[in-house]
Amino acid sequence: MQTDHDVCPVEPGTPAGPSRRRFLQAFAVGSAGALASAGRRAQASPAAPALAGSRGRQDPPEGADAEAAYWERVRREFLVSDELAYMNSGTLGPMPKSVYYAVVDAYRALSADPGRENTRHNQAQGGLREKLAAFVGADADEIALTRNTTEGMSFVANGLDLEAGDEVLLSHHEHPGGLEPWKLKAKRQGIVVRELPFPIPTPEPAEILNRFEAAITPRTKVISVSHVTFPTGCMLPVRELAALARPRGILTAVDGAHAIGMLALDMHDLGVDFYASSPYKWMGAPVGTGMLYLRRESQERVWPTVVMAGWDDPERGAARYDRLSQRAGPLLVAFDAALDFQTGIGRERIEARVRALATALRARLAEIPQATVHTSTHPVLGCGITGFALEGFDRRAVVDTLWRRHHVWVRHTDHDLNTVRVSTHLYNTEEQVDRLIDGVRDILANGALPLETARG
Ligand SMILES: Cc1ncc(COP(=O)(O)O)c(C=O)c1O
Repeated sequence: MQTDHDVCPVEPGTPAGPSRRRFLQAFAVGSAGALASAGRRAQASPAAPALAGSRGRQDPPEGADAEAAYWERVRREFLVSDELAYMNSGTLGPMPKSVYYAVVDAYRALSADPGRENTRHNQAQGGLREKLAAFVGADADEIALTRNTTEGMSFVANGLDLEAGDEVLLSHHEHPGGLEPWKLKAKRQGIVVRELPFPIPTPEPAEILNRFEAAITPRTKVISVSHVTFPTGCMLPVRELAALARPRGILTAVDGAHAIGMLALDMHDLGVDFYASSPYKWMGAPVGTGMLYLRRESQERVWPTVVMAGWDDPERGAARYDRLSQRAGPLLVAFDAALDFQTGIGRERIEARVRALATALRARLAEIPQATVHTSTHPVLGCGITGFALEGFDRRAVVDTLWRRHHVWVRHTDHDLNTVRVSTHLYNTEEQVDRLIDGVRDILANGALPLETARG
């Protein structure tokens, strides 16, 4: 039987094993990961540029064939089998090999030499914070290393001093991870949570902006929305919402669970106060890694929730919000490797690829009269998540049949729209989009299988 180490062997105890080195060379990525190899990098990767950006990035190939060949090479950097069309990065993305081996090797090294490896991991957190900050257009003292979006949104909601009757405006399509922290605060402290509906599919950003503007009252203290909504993949105009909010003294908190690794983010350009994300989805980092951005000027408004020594030291900036005591260093090592992976390809290039695949998928679905596409066709509102319903079919049966008959893994969302949700990411292919469409046509022609596996 083939094991994953057979697929891509790795030398025990080597921070940048063959797989990772091969990727770094192939894509001309600079840094081999400060966390993984703080003490050994000089041997492994001399002259490594440490931060995200175009330095060390491979120039895009010219022409359609070269483009296809390029993405095929990228796809080969993942362990997902050729038979499986995995189209659900929105729930959990696969790690590239370089990231997978980074975490495996880091745990091995930690087990072999716990004291020194643990120290190395702790000391290297600052480097990761800097690298991540550069990746998302922020400063290092505005980045907290959390464990997921739910934790980040909870830190913000729990940490703000609000009074009974103060209002938080949300959209009607918030994920529980971004909604429940406010509901808890409503139950505990009497704040008012208002969920604003907007049309689906949304024709243009003004449909959303106007509704938020009209809903603002003197009691509105926070606008808290998803950057990319989970049921239909609608990209809310968070930059414009922040511009609406700031002059009125309203804070903006964004649930950006899907955005990191999918979109080329720039926190300072977005102008929001708080932004939580889950790099294990589209970024290829392991589960257990998260990011919370807190705008420097807004940090004094938020009390830390999980604390140990240092929580009251403003010099620490956003690091005051991740004072977790002992934590899983190998996950941070792998997060560092995930940043290298994506930087090696280029954030804009990834976003363009993701959007191209999703646009192609939506165009193909639009050709099927029984398919209702819930995702906006507006270029600003659509991104890498597509939601659709199939007339006459329950979403669960569609999802299950696509898997059992066609080996296409998508999910359904239990909201109000009977939605089948598809995530198209950089390791997906045009052939997989075709396979999904063939599967949909097959269901329409031959019916869905009796539901066997109820899953999201
Ligand atoms: C929009 C949105 N927000 C928050 C979450 C929760 O993410 P996590 O489990 O990483 O906290 C999800 C999960 O899929 C999501 O889609």
